[in-house]
Amino acid sequence: MKVLIHETQATAVDCVAGLFADRLKQEPETVLGLATGGTMEAVYERLIARYKAGDMSMAKARSFNLDEYVGLRPDHPCSYWYYMRKKLFDHVDIKPENTFLPCGDAPDPEVEANRYEDAIAAAGDIGLQLLGLGANGHIGFNEPTSSLASHTRIKTLTRTTREANARYFDSFDDVPRLAITMGIGTIMRAEEIVLLAFGEAKADVVAKMIEGPVSAACPASILQMHRKVTVVIDEAAASKLALRDYYEEVHPEVRAPS
Ligand code: GLP
Repeated sequence: MKVLIHETQATAVDCVAGLFADRLKQEPETVLGLATGGTMEAVYERLIARYKAGDMSMAKARSFNLDEYVGLRPDHPCSYWYYMRKKLFDHVDIKPENTFLPCGDAPDPEVEANRYEDAIAAAGDIGLQLLGLGANGHIGFNEPTSSLASHTRIKTLTRTTREANARYFDSFDDVPRLAITMGIGTIMRAEEIVLLAFGEAKADVVAKMIEGPVSAACPASILQMHRKVTVVIDEAAASKLALRDYYEEVHPEVRAPS
């Protein structure tokens, strides 16, 4: 695991946008794994700026998002389809027919989950996967106790996750109880993973993910078993790491960019 500790949220976000743009430069046809949530909004803003500056193109890329709420139509303002269109797809050159999310309003969500898993495998799996981090250690919507080998399926959301996402809905009761999410096994097949977390509220879970035991109790801890993961955090999110000095010593360039 490469742990990059940035002085500020802004430079952490720039770093992730830079890794994303570099990968697309090297391999324009990359199959991208995309995430939602508040953390990613700043990344997408930077990517849009890079696209407008002629510094990034998604014209040849395909994308698969991590998850979608069960029961929400793609045009529902709280759906992740809607989020992705508004926050990224409508502003860059990715072809709409190359963007994929699970259909939250599919007549049979289980069939839809299997179809989505097959579509990812048929695309050759994810090349670069972006991840945020839930306060309880979830990645995608793989809540604690999720099978570490799971494929795309339906998950019941925890109360804390529903509370954390209630700000996007009119009320807590409007937050769906179920979601279709890529599995942990699906995510682990990605060639490369970049996870971004910032803020004090994520400090405990960041420490568990990086330095705790690998356990389904903290699904993100499985990333310790992946060959190519970069964790990008700010100082606040790094504040509970026991080996923080070591990570800073290994990557001095993060604090003093050349
Ligand atoms: C949601 C998403 C996750 C995301 C998490 C963190 O639950 N399904 O993919 O990582 O929120 O969100 P935030 O970035 O708002 O803290």
